[in-house]
Amino acid sequence: MILAADPQAVEQAAQALRDGHLVGMPTETVYGLAADASSDAAVAQIFLAKGRPANHPLIVHVAGVAQVPLFAAQVPAFAHSLMAAFWPGPLTLILPRQAGVATASAGGQDSVGLRCPVHPVAQALLQACLRRGVLGLSAPSANRFGRVSPTTAAHVQAELGPALLVLDGGECEVGIESSIIDCSRGQPVLLRPGQITRAQIQAACGLALLDPDSLAQAAPRASGTLASHYAPRAKVRLMSATDIAAKLQALGPHANNLGLWSAQKPDAGAGVLWRQQPETAKPAAHMLFSVLRELDALGVQQIWVQCPPDTPDWEGVRDRLQRAAA
Ligand code: TXA
Ligand code: MG
Repeated sequence: MILAADPQAVEQAAQALRDGHLVGMPTETVYGLAADASSDAAVAQIFLAKGRPANHPLIVHVAGVAQVPLFAAQVPAFAHSLMAAFWPGPLTLILPRQAGVATASAGGQDSVGLRCPVHPVAQALLQACLRRGVLGLSAPSANRFGRVSPTTAAHVQAELGPALLVLDGGECEVGIESSIIDCSRGQPVLLRPGQITRAQIQAACGLALLDPDSLAQAAPRASGTLASHYAPRAKVRLMSATDIAAKLQALGPHANNLGLWSAQKPDAGAGVLWRQQPETAKPAAHMLFSVLRELDALGVQQIWVQCPPDTPDWEGVRDRLQRAAA
């Protein structure tokens, strides 16, 4: 059931969460499938609904910095700087976890992922939850495990069925999931790139940002970091603009059941469904998952995607495309 996110619907959703049910929640990145982070039974339903392995930890969403000590055991100074710079917003911090809190959500890790979303409906929902004693909301992306993240309420319903209460907060502005920075190792480690660039992160905390593979000890499990993830049914192929043009020319009228997301309109027939790829990273991220979903739903066998520029602002989009194509 999709509800327009007016104040009454937000209260209804908060009460459902208080009562141990799941709610589809809009955020600025992608829609989340939320449950009371402190209820292991409610969180267990998330794993069930998504078909997600129980040892893949979930992000806990909080209303503000004030809630951080409820979940995190220590917060290094550089993590405070990151929160000051980017919260509320599309940034998740991994911090040492308070013993005994959000246990099911943490999926066996002794850390906790915390994020304070900026979307007004997410904020209103978190505040309404706080008033009911719900201190945080565990919420992975509201898709079935391994599939494309939802960026509209209708996507959530298509993934998880009509029985789920989904608050409709419109299209997600960012369109790709939050940047995840591990702050539990003394230095910031980028586990998942998002809209915020490396340079912005380093400038905000004054430290070099490390990559997980540069660490001696294996990084914690993150399903968004599996090689094959964010996959539509159609096969995704990443190609240069030159290769796309050459391959389309070679196929000629035999180019069929093909989706194409590229900057230039191709010289091709009706068998090629073209969607224009924006020339800058932000609008491209905004439409990435919905364009994959739309072309997939139209039944194409392959989706050819023009490989985005190899510049820092495109890192989040490149990362998702590489996983979709893996
Ligand atoms: O933008 C987002 O982050 C969205 C919206 C709904 O907030 N959420 C999201 O959640 O992308 P999910 O579960 O699809 O991805 C969360 C990622 C996973 O890769 C998970 O493994 C990682 O965060 N994660 C969560 N807690 C962690 C922890 N304690 N240690 C390491 N990774 C963690
Ligand atoms: Mg996900």
